[in-house]
Amino acid sequence: MPPAMVCIHHAGELKATDRRRREPARRSCHSTGKVDLVSGSDLYQRLGRHAGTAAIVDDFYRRVLADADLQHYFAGVSMPIQRRHMTAFLITAVGRPETYRGRDLSSAHRGLAVTGSDFEGIAELLGQSLREHEVAEEDVTTVLDRIAALRPQIVQADN
Ligand code: HEM
Repeated sequence: MPPAMVCIHHAGELKATDRRRREPARRSCHSTGKVDLVSGSDLYQRLGRHAGTAAIVDDFYRRVLADADLQHYFAGVSMPIQRRHMTAFLITAVGRPETYRGRDLSSAHRGLAVTGSDFEGIAELLGQSLREHEVAEEDVTTVLDRIAALRPQIVQADN
């Protein structure tokens, strides 16, 4: 049976389990007749929607925690929460309005003294995780460009 139509205005009323079963994007709204181009960005679809992005984030933090230069930043950090926040954050960054409820990035990274080279290291590992999940090179570039734009909020060390 095809999934029921749902418009952008009422999608928030669905239970999470219902939402997972829905087909992506470009549904028209029953009340305005407008086509919904917002709720399912194409890039989000190509990352594999929520489940695909969560798998990329899992792989990413496995790499981070195995990296001798980066793992110390995460000592004492709750990784399940971290993975959840990063997944929501990335989904927002690829254009889908998702409910990222974490702190703003400047506050989250204040006091961590993240260096420029560690920022590059994190971006490199994220690129590896995206490629590992067969994300097209053009899309990897798009995601990494958006991440690079966040640099000033994250790198707060002097070097
Ligand atoms: C590259 C872009 C990055 C993005 C998009 C990003 C995103 C995030 C997000 C969404 C959170 C959760 C905020 C919250 O819990 O409210 C977070 C926390 C954190 N990030 Fe990043 N991050 C980035 C780079 C880095 C880098 C380069 C490092 C260190 C090398 C780092 C270390 C951390 C740590 C340790 C936390 C946990 C802080 C805490 O719980 O007190 N992040 N980051």
